Formats: sequence, structure tokens, C-alpha cells
Amino acid sequence: MSEILKRLSIADYQEIVNLWADAGLPYKPNGRDSRAMMAKEMQQEGVAYFGLYEESRLLAVGIANYDGRRGWINRVAVDPDRRGDGLAGMIIEECEKFMRAKGAVVLTALIEDINEPSISCFQKAGFICDKSWLYFSKRDFQDS
Ligand SMILES: CC(C)(COP(=O)(O)OP(=O)(O)OC[C@H]1O[C@@H](n2cnc3c(N)ncnc32)[C@H](O)[C@@H]1OP(=O)(O)O)[C@@H](O)C(=O)NCCC(=O)NCCS
Repeated sequence: MSEILKRLSIADYQEIVNLWADAGLPYKPNGRDSRAMMAKEMQQEGVAYFGLYEESRLLAVGIANYDGRRGWINRVAVDPDRRGDGLAGMIIEECEKFMRAKGAVVLTALIEDINEPSISCFQKAGFICDKSWLYFSKRDFQDS
């Protein structure tokens, strides 16, 4: 494997949002995915962005966030040309390691019910789906 696993910083911002766009993940440039909000998020003790680079190209990304109660894995995305190579699995594993080291004993992910590749990917990583939960959110503005 020639990919290099890196903890990402705000210097990687453009590569991260480009990869989310290429992977078809919606992002909120005027909300929590703005450069300013992501820079602030990355400063938090329980947060780490991990990425796999091949030279200057970001191939995979994911966010680990231990909130003190649960560990969340967010926004995992892999370059469409490099899917099926186990890259998401590597990102998930690194996120898990980071959050366990912080003290997390419950690891979670929110996945849309139509996102079969992501569902199988997390199942393969040992996550169990509990279909009895509904996702509630309260937004300060539409694009937050
Ligand atoms: C979901 C995603 C991150 C998987 O990335 P990936 O690097 O291709 O995944 P991996 O190669 O690590 O695959 C791990 C496992 O996931 C499952 N999987 C991955 N892609 C799959 C697909 N298209 N269909 C069914 N299962 C799939 C398989 O179980 C696979 O294990 P296997 O190769 O031993 O069969 C990638 O498809 C992606 O970027 N999707 C768009 C963004 C997205 O939806 N992100 C998730 C948000 S919750």
C-alpha cells in the first residue's frame, strides 16, 4: 500500500471538501463545513479528522468525535476510483483507535437507510444496526 495515513488539519480543508463532493456527500459550506467552523472543530480534544493520502491526492477521509459519552464516526468518504480497496475500513479502524484511547466504549455512526455500501461497510467493521431509532435534529438555520 502506498497510501499514507495522516491526522488532518485545516491545511487539508480544500482536499477534504473536494473529496466529499467527488464522493457525492452533501456538505454545508455555509454551516458546519465552512473553513472557520471546521478549524474550530479540529481544535476540540475529542475530534480527529483522518485521511489517506497518495502523494498529494486525498483518497479517503473520516471524522472521529468522542463527545464524552459516545464516539461518533462521521463523513467517511472514499475517492470513487479507489473504492473496494479497504480504504474506508482503514479510516474506520483509525477513528476507533482514537476514540477508544479517549475512553469511548460505545462507537456509533448515522447512515441513511438507502446507503447500502456504507451500511455493509460499517457492518463489516463490527457495527450493529438498531432500526428502532429515529434521527431528530434542531437546526439554527437551513444550511447549518
Ligand atoms: C461507503 C464507502 C465509504 C465505502 O468505501 P470503500 O473504501 O469502498 O469500502 P471498503 O473497501 O473499506 O469496504 C469495506 C466493506 O464495505 C462493504 N462495501 C463497500 N462497498 C460496498 C458496495 N458498493 N456494496 C456492498 N458492500 C460494500 C463490503 O462489506 C466491504 O468489505 P469486502 O470488500 O470485504 O466485501 C464508499 O462507498 C463511499 O465513499 N461512499 C460515498 C460516501 C458515503 O456514502 N459515505 C458514508 C456516509 S455514512
